[in-house]
Amino acid sequence: MQNSKTPAAGITSAPFGNLPDGTPVAIYTLKNSNGVEARVCTYGGILVSLLAPDRNGNLGDIVLGYDHLRGYLEKNPYFGALVGRCANRIAGGRFTLEDKTYSLAINNGPNSLHGGLKGFDKVIWQPTLAHVATGPALELFYLSKAGEEGYPGNLEVKTTYSLADDNSLRVDFEASTDQPTIVNLTQHSYFNLACQGDILGHQMQIEADRFTPVDSNLIPTGELRPVRGTPFDFHQATTIGARIDQDEEQIKLGHGYDHNFIVNHPMGRLDRIACASEPGSGRILEVFSDLPGVQFYTGNFLNGTITGKAGTAYHPRCAFCLEPQFFPDSPHHPNFPSIVLKPGQTYRHSVIYKLSTK
Ligand code: GLA
Repeated sequence: MQNSKTPAAGITSAPFGNLPDGTPVAIYTLKNSNGVEARVCTYGGILVSLLAPDRNGNLGDIVLGYDHLRGYLEKNPYFGALVGRCANRIAGGRFTLEDKTYSLAINNGPNSLHGGLKGFDKVIWQPTLAHVATGPALELFYLSKAGEEGYPGNLEVKTTYSLADDNSLRVDFEASTDQPTIVNLTQHSYFNLACQGDILGHQMQIEADRFTPVDSNLIPTGELRPVRGTPFDFHQATTIGARIDQDEEQIKLGHGYDHNFIVNHPMGRLDRIACASEPGSGRILEVFSDLPGVQFYTGNFLNGTITGKAGTAYHPRCAFCLEPQFFPDSPHHPNFPSIVLKPGQTYRHSVIYKLSTK
């Protein structure tokens, strides 16, 4: 018999407060048969919590965020959020498409970051319950109107969250447009597999032979640089903290890791691109994606001023992000894979976060 305190596997919903204008926000709980649980709210499609077992079976929340909606509304450096229309930076917030130049909302020094002032992380997504091969799923829809944050074309976006019984949380993105535009969507969770402290002792492995070096505004220079012999070589699982303060130009420009890695697999194939593990808890997080890049960010801009879940102050490097995506600032680099989406085409991108222990 089912204990009322431990709801069955499946998806349930509850209210999660209101926006200042009264719009209600809902939170959905996805639970699998092992008790793994993901909570996602309709504001920003934010992954609010992700409970993962350690090697002794104890569940811990491995993502940063807030206990209440208020925190996300007041200040959210993209904790758990869906990011778009264009994840990462676009230099000068301008790009040219089919001979027309568009100006985007500027929100990061001279650049446009993560969709602008009100990106997909700050909008209400329309929820629907659905079924995918692995079980129940939460579909979130958003219509980004032509001109929003400066982007051309009405963009219809669907993001589907599903949690399978092999302890993998899957996020599928789909988008289509009625005018040529640019699209680069990702999930921006901040992970800490120990559920406390910093992530310097976590091990990281990234399937990338090259990365894209940046300038002082974190805009790629256009170079595709081999990781070999640099602090960016994560072919072998390496402690994140081992080289994070090395006297090296790119590490200094990023204040640690805040770089796009060029993953080795061919675009469109859903492969394992990275694996993080934490020796103390035994938790392992494998990340799968079908896009050509992944931004590895070590929370360098967290400065202790944000108080998150259970009153925890979030300090630099208390979490890492692995954001599967196209390369940053793609419109200005003809040698980067194109992020242009045309009418009649469908943008598709899948990410899997697979949890296990050792
Ligand atoms: C991305 C960027 C970082 C930072 C975070 C959000 O990962 O690459 O520089 O802006 O988002 O704070």
